[in-house]
Amino acid sequence: MVNEEAVTEILLSAEVIQRRVGELAQEISRDYLGRTPVLVGILKGSFVFLSDLMRRLSCDLEVDFISTSSYGQATVSSGTVRLLKDLDRDVAGRHILVAEDIVDSGLTLAYIWKSLAARDPASLSVVALLDKKERRSGGIVLDYVGFKVPDVFLVGYGLDCAERYRGLPYVAAMGSRDGDGPA
Ligand code: IMP
Ligand code: MG
Repeated sequence: MVNEEAVTEILLSAEVIQRRVGELAQEISRDYLGRTPVLVGILKGSFVFLSDLMRRLSCDLEVDFISTSSYGQATVSSGTVRLLKDLDRDVAGRHILVAEDIVDSGLTLAYIWKSLAARDPASLSVVALLDKKERRSGGIVLDYVGFKVPDVFLVGYGLDCAERYRGLPYVAAMGSRDGDGPA
């Protein structure tokens, strides 16, 4: 089913991910004590992380999803982000916690941040499982980060390569001919 040859190196095992998600959940539960945040998942990649995280949060919460697509070449973002699916609800006055699988250039998140900030939430924070910091262009603030990862193309735990490998329970580096894969 999974072409194991293409997956060259397991970077984060399922156990390591689960442990860290538990730590993040503890920290977030403490920070959101007595509040009911709206957890906003960015489709599709973040749904695996979000579903593990939300089940370990002790605060009450609501879940919603947003979906964007960026244009341009697979490995070089054009900087143009298009909204494919917006939130289902009004989030004015709500505490929003955006959950992202991986932040690379930060362009996707910058776009979503701007869009959500304009809706007058009570607060707006971000939790990213993976932070590919080397490629960051702007001043994006990540409030909670699972792991800092190197600038290699990763798959698994929600991350895909041409829509494949999302179901792997671990995060692995992809081996490919030209050193990178589609975003
Ligand atoms: P950014 O706008 O450059 O920060 O890109 C963020 C999005 O690109 C993420 O939400 C992922 O969907 C995708 N992405 C970035 N790096 C990787 C990777 O290594 N593997 C799979 N998807 C990635
Ligand atoms: Mg994504």
